[in-house]
Parts: sequence; C-alpha cells; structure tokens
Amino acid sequence: MARVVVTGKVPAVAVERLRAAHDVDAWDSESPIARGELLSRVQGADAVVSLLTERVDAELLDAAGPQLRVVSNVAVGYNNIDVPACAARGVRVTNTPGVLTDATADIAMALILMVTRRLGEGERVIRSRRPWQWGMFYMLGTGLQGRRLGIVGMGQIGAATARRARSFGMEIAYTKRTPLDGPTAAELGAVHVGLDELLATSDVVSLHCPYSPETHHLIDAARLSSMRRSAYLVNTARGPVVDEAALVDALRAGTIAGAGLDVFEREPEVHEGLLGLDNAVLIPHLGSATVETRTAMADLAATNCLAVLDGREPPNPVG
Ligand code: DGY
Repeated sequence: MARVVVTGKVPAVAVERLRAAHDVDAWDSESPIARGELLSRVQGADAVVSLLTERVDAELLDAAGPQLRVVSNVAVGYNNIDVPACAARGVRVTNTPGVLTDATADIAMALILMVTRRLGEGERVIRSRRPWQWGMFYMLGTGLQGRRLGIVGMGQIGAATARRARSFGMEIAYTKRTPLDGPTAAELGAVHVGLDELLATSDVVSLHCPYSPETHHLIDAARLSSMRRSAYLVNTARGPVVDEAALVDALRAGTIAGAGLDVFEREPEVHEGLLGLDNAVLIPHLGSATVETRTAMADLAATNCLAVLDGREPPNPVG
C-alpha cells in the first residue's frame, strides 16, 4: 500500500478510487493548503496528486523524499511543477488533457462574445441602477461574422475554440510549431501564419499556448501595439503569457479595443488597473469550472497516479 497525498480538495470519486488501493491523506478544505503544512504532509509520500495552486519544486520533492514516484497534476497546464527537478529524481509527472477541452473552449468563446458585445459593461449599467434607454447608437459592439480569430497555440483547446468561432462566421488564423494536417486545417478553415502576422491581421486574438519561460510575457507592449486598434485579446491560457501592466496601458490608451481574461499574472491578485476598465472582461479562472469537467479531471488524475503506482505507463505523462 502506497502513501498518496492529495494537496487540495477534489471530487470525492477520485479520492475513493485512490483510497480503495492506497493510504490517502487528502486536504479537505477549499482554501489552498499552507506551504508549511504541505511540506510536512508530503513527507514519505509515494505519490502526490497536486492542484495548480501548489508549487511542486525541488524543495517539495526533497521534503517528500526519494521514495516519491509520481506527481499527478489535476490540470492540463503544469507550469506549477518543476518537471526537470522531477525527472532528475526519477519522479513521473502527469496531467489531465482532453477532459477540459470543451469547457475551456466554451469559456474562450464566452469571453469573445462578452468583450465584443460589451456584456460585462451592460450588466454593470443595469446593476448600478443608472438610467439607460434603448438607442440606435447605445452601447454598440462589434459583430463576429467575417472577422478573423487568431489562435495562438493551436492545440486541442485552440482547435475547439476555432470550431465554435467558425459557427459564428469567423475566419481562423493560427500559430503552431508544426502546422495542422491538411484535413484538420480544411475542417477548421484555418490558415497557418507567424505570430507577427497573426497579431497584425486578427480582429480577436485568443491565447491557448502553455506557459513556459519561452511564453513568459509573449504578449508584451510591443506585441500589443502591433495589434489592430479595433482588436480584442482573450486569455484562457495562463496569466503570465501576457504582460498585465502593458495590457492595462494598451487598454487605457486604446491601442487595442478590449480584453477578456480568465487568467491573471499573479492569481488570485488582479492588476488594480484592470478593475476600473470597462473594456476589460474579468472572470476568476473558470475555464474548466463545470461539475462534469472537474470530476473528469480528478478521475483522470487518479487514473494516472494509480497507473504509476501499479508499475504501468500512465495515460498522460508529461516531459
Ligand atoms: C488547467 O487545467 O490547466 C486549467 O487552467 C484548470 O482550470
């Protein structure tokens, strides 16, 4: 029987599956575990099932000890994990791709609609009890038909977002290291372009790349100023892909028309400058936040963890 530490509250079905075979110590509060508590709980763990709010670095791996065999992240993004430090200690890392693709693409599409049609701003008018009146020129937004959506990072979530956008009449351009195969590109009606061309020609830019040192501040002041003044930026990937201070300046100056953000550079903090901007739609990292999706993510993380503990190849290895 192995010792499994679950670092945050996850749907019970996953904990039950782990408990059926192993000795499980699961954090049971919705507030994130304090670092000191985490470091003490992981001591002697054979497996750690982690949430994206927990940093799995050399300090944690050393605190766990040399018997640790797997870190199973309950997320598709794994920038909270020092993968080379795990590899150096022979610790497998796994993530949960696929099961959150539709939920996250739904949120990307929702943000595209919210920001282009000024829905957050409209809701704030109603809730503030300020007087309003239907008018020919009142709170006009931008239609999506015939507009170009630029997908930065055409993985599963990018492609699912493209499919949704196509049904709203948008044209698709994308960046990706290796271009899509012919049939997929044809199905999505998607053209492969470089990042500079994508930024200069898109009406909406939607970020779907993983966060890594290479994508830190990928969208900085210079890249924002290369976008159209009428364009919108949507981020459902990771906050630090965007230089948030530069984005605030760009939104204030009208360098771009608006932004829809599900993720932030220093979560759960949000740049003070964003809070006062009507052309920013801000939601608290809800990309995968449906009951079904979170259950599937936790279940898949349990599957990955159990596979490694049983000496089998996990379905979703990382690195
Ligand atoms: C992920 O899985 O990386 C998502 O950000 C979680 O919502």
